[in-house]
This record gives sequence, C-alpha cells and structure tokens, in this order.
Amino acid sequence: MSDLRFFVTAPIPDPGLPLLRAAGSVHLPDAPPDAATLRAACESGDYDVIVAQVRDPFDADLLRAAKIRGISNFAVGYDNIDVAAATANAVMVGNTPDVLTGATADIAMLLMLAVGRRAVAADTFVRTRHFSGWRSDMFLGQDISGRTLGLAGFGRIGRATARRALGFDMEVLFCPRPPGDRPVPDEELGAFAGRVRHVDWAELVASSDYLSLHVPLKDETHHLVNADVLQAMKPTAVLINTARGPVVDEDALVAALASDEIAGAGLDVYENEPRLAAGLAELPNTVLLPHIGSATVSVRAAMARLCAENAIAMARGDVPPHPVNPEAWRP
Ligand code: NAP
Ligand code: GLV
Repeated sequence: MSDLRFFVTAPIPDPGLPLLRAAGSVHLPDAPPDAATLRAACESGDYDVIVAQVRDPFDADLLRAAKIRGISNFAVGYDNIDVAAATANAVMVGNTPDVLTGATADIAMLLMLAVGRRAVAADTFVRTRHFSGWRSDMFLGQDISGRTLGLAGFGRIGRATARRALGFDMEVLFCPRPPGDRPVPDEELGAFAGRVRHVDWAELVASSDYLSLHVPLKDETHHLVNADVLQAMKPTAVLINTARGPVVDEDALVAALASDEIAGAGLDVYENEPRLAAGLAELPNTVLLPHIGSATVSVRAAMARLCAENAIAMARGDVPPHPVNPEAWRP
C-alpha cells in the first residue's frame, strides 16, 4: 500500500471508499467533524487530502494553517471553500461536475410540476382519506406547458433544465450572469439558438411564470432574489431554487409567500441549511426537499468515483481530473 493519507469527513458511496482504500489509508471519523476538529485534521500534517462535503467549511484562517495538498469536494458547488485562500496556500480543490447535471435539472422540473400542480398537498389529501371522488374544482393548479420559464444562470444545469422545459412546450428565457449580464453568441448557444431568449435580469424577473435559479453562490449572487426582486415578480409566479440557499433572502421569501406577492416556491436548498426560516414550513404554497438534487444511486456513485479520483491525484501531487483551481498546483 502507498502512503497516501485521506481524511474523509463523512462516508461516500461505492466505489469511492474502496478506491481511496486501494490507494492509501482512510480516516473516517464516527461523526462528521465540527469546525474545530476539521481544522485540527487539516493542521495535523497527518493527511494529504480532505474528502469533504458541502457542509464542511474551509475558510482563509483554516487554509493558512493547513498542511494538506488538496480538498476533494463531494459536490459540483464549492462555496464552502475559500478558493482564493486555498490557491494562495497551494491547496488544490477538486469537484464533481457534469455527472449530476441531469439529475439536478430533473429536480428543478419536479419542483415546478409539484408546486404548479399542487402534487404534495393532493397526495396528502388522498393519504388522509379525504378523497371521496372526482370533482371538477379539486386541486386546480397552474399550467406548465405554454408558460414562461426564466433561468437565472445558463451553465450546465441551467441548460439541462432548458432542454427539459422545451420538451414541456415552455417558453424559455435566460440571463447568464444575474444580476449582471454578458453577451452569449449563437455559437455558444449551439442547438439552443432560436429556441431560447437571452434577456437581462430585470426582464427575466418580470416575465417568468417559473423563475429557476442555477448560479453558484458567490458574493455577486448572495441574496440575488431579495424583497425587491420578489416584489417585481408576477403575483402568479413560482420561484424554484436548486442552486444554493443564500442565493435567496429566505425571510423575504417567506414574507412574499405569506402575503401572496408570489404564488409559490419549490426549494431544494436553504439559506441556513438544514434550518428553515421561521414560517417557511407552515406555508401551504411551497414544496420543500432536503437538498436531493443529485440524489440518485447512479449519480452518487459517479460522484464518488470522481471525488476519489480527484483525491488520489491531489494526494500524489498531481492536478486532479476535475480541478477548481489548477493554478494552485506547485511542481
Ligand atoms: P455552471 O455550469 O458553472 O453554471 C453556472 C452559471 O452561473 C453560468 O451561467 C455562469 O455564467 C453563472 N455564474 C457564474 N458565476 C457567476 C457570478 N459570479 N454571478 C452570476 N452568475 C454567475 O454550474 P452548474 O453545474 O450548472 O451548477 C450550478 C450550481 O448548482 C452549483 O454551483 C451548485 O451550487 C448548485 N447545485 C446544486 C445541487 C443540488 O443538489 N441542489 C446539485 C448540483 C449543483 P458564465 O457562463 O458566464 O460563467
Ligand atoms: C450539490 O449541492 C452540489 O453542489 O453538488
């Protein structure tokens, strides 16, 4: 066995752990580490790579003192890591893009359908034995087909959501870098050219029947959807968030939903995960999922493979197959 050393903050599915164990030694604590334990592991000099989850914070202080080669995040998002500080301290970061794109877009569609067609309330109605026969006025919802979907962010998951929405005959608008913008030439749009429309953030917000968020959490996207944005949405509109909780001001969202400023919300992520803003769970016009965007058996296995391959490469001192900051590599 080689001497590669991995600290794995929480179990990852097969084939992740077997791959890591075949490449070196794995320390897997009985419970996920708190911030102090994580910091101690990073500073100890006992590990080459930390295999981390989105809830594990790596801030500049920790990274300055860290004696590790890399962090392999079991996620495509890496907002839990101060990447600039990682680069400054020669700590490489790896993530798991692409393999989870379709599954996460599926969850965005599922949330649109579930909120629009009131699926969760209708399911509860049946289970609680209230269904006494078909009625013409029961659980009337909103159309999906023919409605306008606004995509905030048009990267991997935004595009995969667009593909699905076009199959549902939705009109698809997108804003690539909200609240800012950038040109998107037809060559970049590829097969989407002529089928989706590029608009600015203000038009996206005002025109969408379903506004779906697909941006990473950055300073520029923190509270992208705030009280002003919610007020500018149609009163019939539904907000979908499969990106990151803090992209939405959750207190403002609760207020907007409670006062029917917008019609509903479908959320997979929360501002202070796993806690919910006061009042959110009591609102009837929401569907709330526990951050399961990538949660299929095959996708999690593919993520685990990528995550292990990233970790092994970084532990060997190589650039990982999916690097976030290749510039951190030091020969
Ligand atoms: P991606 O391919 O990198 O696309 C990101 C999009 O956001 C692009 O349109 C990008 O614009 C834009 N963007 C990047 N930086 C921005 C900024 N500072 N301000 C505004 N817009 C910015 O990412 P992805 O694979 O689609 O994933 C998107 C996010 O989804 C992830 O970061 C993660 O947080 C979240 N996610 C959640 C789940 C879940 O379980 N719910 C699963 C997977 C991912 P450019 O094209 O101009 O760069
Ligand atoms: C999940 O939230 C991810 O970023 O992969």
